[in-house]
Amino acid sequence: MGTASAPSLSAAVSVMPPKNSPRRGFDVDAFDISPTAIAWCRQRFPRSLVRYHVTELLASPSAWDGIFGFVLEVYTLQVLPPDLRLRATRRIADVVAPGGTLFVVCRGREPDDEPGHMPWPLTRADLDCFVTHGLREQSFEDFLDDEDPPARRFRAVYIRP
Ligand SMILES: C[S@@+](CC[C@H](N)C(=O)[O-])C[C@H]1O[C@@H](n2cnc3c(N)ncnc32)[C@H](O)[C@@H]1O
Repeated sequence: MGTASAPSLSAAVSVMPPKNSPRRGFDVDAFDISPTAIAWCRQRFPRSLVRYHVTELLASPSAWDGIFGFVLEVYTLQVLPPDLRLRATRRIADVVAPGGTLFVVCRGREPDDEPGHMPWPLTRADLDCFVTHGLREQSFEDFLDDEDPPARRFRAVYIRP
């Protein structure tokens, strides 16, 4: 994805070009609540075709409902406190198109583990909310990364039937 190397973006959502389109790749919308983050992306990638938006996830446009063929969520849910996180999970699920894919990466913990300080690692139940909101879990990985010391992370893929 065009935004894979834009580290300050909270999420990136993309729409596949229509079938038989001569264009290759993705049309990409990417957003962050931070105007500074978005300005930095525009400055860093001036030729990018990505549509960058300063948008708060929970106030993202209703025009985004159910239209994105691929949605990427990396390390944003874990910076939100629990009440906002629940609503954010629902909003992320809402923008996935029928047949579309959501890819999620976050820190992971057991329900009994102390959440500690922000970024708060998520539990599997936190991610199961995507299923509650109509997505189907396609894969779920629970792994230790290669940091020193290693951090536990979840990497999961959901599909909207
Ligand atoms: C830990 S960073 C992760 C950024 C990127 N996905 C990455 O992997 O490096 C979290 C980002 O989420 C943004 N953010 C936090 N709350 C948000 C919200 N409610 N709506 C949109 N973006 C938000 C922050 O401004 C920050 O850029």
